[in-house]
Order: sequence, then structure tokens, then C-alpha cells
Amino acid sequence: MSANRPAAVVVLAAGEGTRMKSATPKVLHSLCGRSLVGHVVAASRELDPEHLVVVVGHAREQVSAHLAEIDPAARTAVQHEQNGTGHAVRMGLEELAGGGDAAPAGGTVVVVCGDTPLLTGETLQRLSDVHSADGNAVTVLTAEVPDSTGYGRIVRDPADGAVTAIVEHKDATEAQRAITEINSGVFAFDGALLSDALGKVRTDNSQGEEYLTDVLGILREAGHRVGAAVAADHREILGINNRVQLSEARRLLNERLLRGAMLSGVTVVDPASTWVDVSVTFEPDVVVHPGTQLHGATHLAAGAEVGPGCTLTDTVVGEGARVINTVADGARVGAEANVGPYAYLRPGTRLGRKAKAGTYVEMKNAEIGEGAKVPHLSYVGDATIGEYTNIGAASVFVNYDGEHKHHTTVGSHCRTGSDNMFVAPVTVGDGAYTAAGSVITKDVPPGALAVARGQQRNIEGWVARKRPGSAAAQAASAARKETDGGQ
Ligand code: UD1
Ligand code: CA
Repeated sequence: MSANRPAAVVVLAAGEGTRMKSATPKVLHSLCGRSLVGHVVAASRELDPEHLVVVVGHAREQVSAHLAEIDPAARTAVQHEQNGTGHAVRMGLEELAGGGDAAPAGGTVVVVCGDTPLLTGETLQRLSDVHSADGNAVTVLTAEVPDSTGYGRIVRDPADGAVTAIVEHKDATEAQRAITEINSGVFAFDGALLSDALGKVRTDNSQGEEYLTDVLGILREAGHRVGAAVAADHREILGINNRVQLSEARRLLNERLLRGAMLSGVTVVDPASTWVDVSVTFEPDVVVHPGTQLHGATHLAAGAEVGPGCTLTDTVVGEGARVINTVADGARVGAEANVGPYAYLRPGTRLGRKAKAGTYVEMKNAEIGEGAKVPHLSYVGDATIGEYTNIGAASVFVNYDGEHKHHTTVGSHCRTGSDNMFVAPVTVGDGAYTAAGSVITKDVPPGALAVARGQQRNIEGWVARKRPGSAAAQAASAARKETDGGQ
């Protein structure tokens, strides 16, 4: 537990986010497999606060339901009208005080915005440490940015450099707009002083809102210590207001995640075309080729090689396995197995050690034994295939009768012919063979050869009679002459 455990973190997430131009509330937009507010809540949890309260408002049922899913211990406070960040924090504190007027339990209250997903727990901890070390009433996390448009500007006393106020972009003078140090929207407050100062915030600004940022000036004028911590990396405090910023944040977070993977021993051939979720895990000596997306609970074990052109979701790739140009969702690929190019592994696919799902192969709810191969142009659905069996090219496991799904079992060491249909439910015994072009509707005993196709019959001279003078007839005639002449 941290020495500076805050009494509470208040996450502001009530705004609509009009600039996103979206039916989805802003804080529920996602990057790298997690919602904007999900990233902020995760970073906040690293402070181990006694309470975590999220202020919801716009589309609050949707946002609350999402929070209940990702962090059931988080509390929510409702801000019915979005009257500004100061008003939102007031709602959060009221929730913490149990709906009464009482100030929240003493101690530090950290406020973060739900739209700054790149913020790290480390930076929050540093802010909290500076706040308590300096004995401040409020400490604001600031950053020097190349483009300060839209952000609140940090106004400092020219004499001693102390922060005197935060001026919103819309309320700033030309001179203030030239300031490049901005408010990240993240603060550490003395809880009791915050509560008191929020009661004094006015709404005489360009937006007619209660600005949280006005609390700084109020506390300073009352003689309290106002401090600032400058973020080491300004990119961390990027606030998402529109979809251009969303894509920038996604790129930055993706770079951060890939950097972590590379430093822990993963080769990423082309970071610019490789996209990963925060929940993806790697072991050393994995190689990721270009054009690859890894989502959800995907895990790549040591020495696995994935890509180019793979999209893997909730998929586990075993040690030394090779997966090329593949889409997989909810699949498990065994050690040293081979997948693709151009395979589609759907939920419930389990490939054993050294198994193969080859080119233009689709699998679903299929268990493929060790060393078993489905190399070409096949669909395997609802099936169990034993070890070291080979399934011939262009085979279909006919699992659906139009109403229900049925299971097919193929034993171990089988050799099934090309272009087979296995009409489920059906079982092929261990060591059995099936002839090419067979439609297998009955069980095949172990070691038998099943032949289930029409007999071939050749009608001699048909082309000469029915297609006289055609190129085919001429070719046939030439071939006959050659054969006859050779005899
Ligand atoms: C805010 C800050 C600005 C800072 C910037 C950093 C204020 C007045 N301005 O501006 O100084 O540089 O963040 O990104 O604080 N929200 C509510 N209820 C409301 C209004 C907002 O919950 O009534 C929430 C929003 O959902 C959002 C956050 O507060 O998560 C910030 O609101 P937003 O409208 O994005 O503020 P900015 O204009 O970006
Ligand atoms: Ca914002």
C-alpha cells in the first residue's frame, strides 16, 4: 500500500463529448481494448484509494453498466446537468459524504478526467507524492505542450513562478493563450479545503459553468499553498475531445505497449502496422510480423511466430507455433503447430502439438490431436480428430442439418481422402481410410477403407459422336493416333 494513499479518487465522466459526434458517450469509446474511462479507472486504482467514485451524467445508465462490469467496487455519483467540472466534483464529494452536506473524510482527494486515457498510475503517484511532500492545499498536474489550443492555461506569478490561476482557453486573453503550460485536468486536493472552495465557485465565465479550475485561485486568495507538478511526458495527458485525438492516443498507447513487449524480448518487425490491446501477453522470443492485430486475452508463448496479416482475439498460441495470415477468435494453438496461410479459427478450436490447420481452412469447436493435419481447403466444425490423422484436401465436416449441430469423430492415424463429406453424427475409427470423393454417412470401423461414391463409367467415342470437329474431338483423335501409332 502506498504511503500516500488518497482518501478518494473522483473520475469525471458525465460529459457528452459533443465533439466526438457519436451516439456512443465519449468515455466509452475504446482504444487498445479498453474504454477511455476504463484506462483512467485502471490508472487510478494504482493509487489504491479508499474510495473511487465516477461522476456520470450523459447516458448514465450505459456508463454505469459499463463501470459495474469493469470495476464493480467503483461508486457512481450522478450529475444530472452538466454544469461544469467544479459542479461534477461537487456531486462526487456529495456521494462520498453519503448524500449529506458533510465534507468528505479528511485526506487527499485526487480528481482525474475520464477522457485522459494515457495517464499512468506512476504519474498519479508522483502528483500525490509532491502534493503531500509540499503540504499543498491543491497540486495541479501540468504539462508543456506544443499546441495548447483548447486547454486551460497555467498562469504563474512572474516574480516567484507560483501558480496563481488556471484560465480556460475560451476565457483567455491573447497573451494568456500564448502560454504553453497547460492544465492536464488532474489534481490532488486537500479534501476538506476542496469541498469548502467548491461552494464559492461562480459561473460568470464564457460557458456559464462551475469550473473546477477556479478552485485554485480561490484557495490561493485564501492564503493556502497552491502547487504544480509538471508531467515528464506531455503526451500522457492528452485529452480526447474528438476522433483525431482518439487516433493519436491510440497510436501513442500502442507504441507504449509494443515498446514494453520489445524490451521484454519480443521482436516486433513493424511497430507501425502492429496493434495490440493492453490485455495481450507475450513470452520472450516471440516474433510478430507486420499487419498483425492482437486483441483481448491473446497470449503468445515463447518462440511463437505470428503474422504477417493476423488478427487474433482471445487466442493462445503455443511455444514455437507458426501462424500466418490468419483470423482466430477464442482458439488455442498448440506448441509447434502450424496455422495458415489463410486460416480462420473460430471459438472452440483446439490444435494439439504439431497439428496443422493449413490454407483456406476454417475450424470451429474442433479438437485436432497432436500431429494431426488439415492442410487444404476444408471446413471442420464440431469435430474431434485424433492424433497423427491426415484429412484430405477439400473436406467438409457437415455438422448442421438445418436445425441442429452434430459431432463428428475421426480417430487417430486415419487417412481420409480428398473431397470427403463427413455427415454428422458419424465416427471414423482409428487407422481407417476413406476414399477420395466419399460422402461418409455411416460409421467406419477401425482399419477399414470406406468408399462412398458413384462408380465411374467411360462412354467410348462420345466426343467424336456428339462434338464432331470440336477442338476436343481433334485433340482426342490426335491422341488416339499417337497411341495407335506407338503400338
Ligand atoms: C478541461 C479543463 C481544462 C483542461 C482540460 C484537460 C475545466 C473547466 N477545464 O477542459 O482546464 O486543460 O480539461 O483535458 O476543468 N465533465 C463532467 N461534467 C461536466 C463537465 C465535464 O463530468 O459538467 C467531465 C467530462 O466528461 C470530461 C471532463 O470532465 O471527462 C473534462 O471535461 P471537458 O468538457 O472535456 O473539459 P475540457 O474543455 O477538455
Ligand atoms: Ca477534455
